[in-house]
Amino acid sequence: MRVIDAAAELRALSREWRREGRRVALVPTMGALHEGHLSLVRIAQTEGARVIVTIYVNPTQFSPSEDLAAYPRTLDRDCALLNDLGVDAVFAPKRDMYLPDHTTWVTVDGLTTGLCGASRPTHFRGVTTIVAKLLHIAEPDIAVFGQKDYQQARVIERMMRDMDFPVVIRVGPIVREADGLAMSSRNRFLSPEDRAAARVLSRTLFACSDRARAGASLAELCAFLDASLADRARGELDYAVIAHPATLGEIRDLSEGALIALAMRFGSARLIDNILIEPQK
Ligand code: PAJ
Repeated sequence: MRVIDAAAELRALSREWRREGRRVALVPTMGALHEGHLSLVRIAQTEGARVIVTIYVNPTQFSPSEDLAAYPRTLDRDCALLNDLGVDAVFAPKRDMYLPDHTTWVTVDGLTTGLCGASRPTHFRGVTTIVAKLLHIAEPDIAVFGQKDYQQARVIERMMRDMDFPVVIRVGPIVREADGLAMSSRNRFLSPEDRAAARVLSRTLFACSDRARAGASLAELCAFLDASLADRARGELDYAVIAHPATLGEIRDLSEGALIALAMRFGSARLIDNILIEPQK
């Protein structure tokens, strides 16, 4: 496995693979890897492509009040895991990916205003800008993201479409701990009490999904969601939203399916989770 620090070297390697007739798949991450990230690598590998994983804690997607400095950095361990998986290259830039006078931003309107965008107004601008840079550097055929960050995947998909990136996006399912908690690099910050309480996220989503499958209406689902979340001892709710799965906007019924998305703060950790509801006839 090649561990690369310089953008020009990564681009040269990717071009060499493509000259050899290989496809290239990119899996962008901020490191502190867990089984959720590794599942995306396996998806990339099933495409028969050379796989590049990027590890970069992107400062522009954190607001000044967020946990950039505290974000876990475990590069040696990450590289060992990726090497064991048979990843072809890791791009882990040591320097800042932004020059001091960087002033260019990629912004996606509409999709970025609700859900996480409401409490993190500059977050998605940072995500789309770094992902655009990574796509330009690595020039992959395929880029793989996780449903865990559903809004992020939709926003990146829109950016790629609107800006004509010649890249196919794949979105992998959410990988969970045995008790349902969605894996996250931030789970390590949970106290034992908060770790136990954080199960409310997945428990609520699964219960909503069961109700929807049993024929509950949108109104019944909303009432159930509110009641389930009211009944909790810990965790500060950021949002609980039932939205259109493509536009992330409001819906009147479940005829086109729905996204149920939650964000909750436990101590310093802000956790998100979501589930997709099938269209109801
Ligand atoms: P990060 O949080 O490290 O996540 C990297 C990728 O792993 C994202 O596509 C995310 O959705 C996916 N992922 C995280 N937890 C997952 C889980 N439990 N199951 C499945 N996939 C999971 O998302 C980012 O980094 C950054 O915003 C990035 C896209 C790299 C831009 O900086």
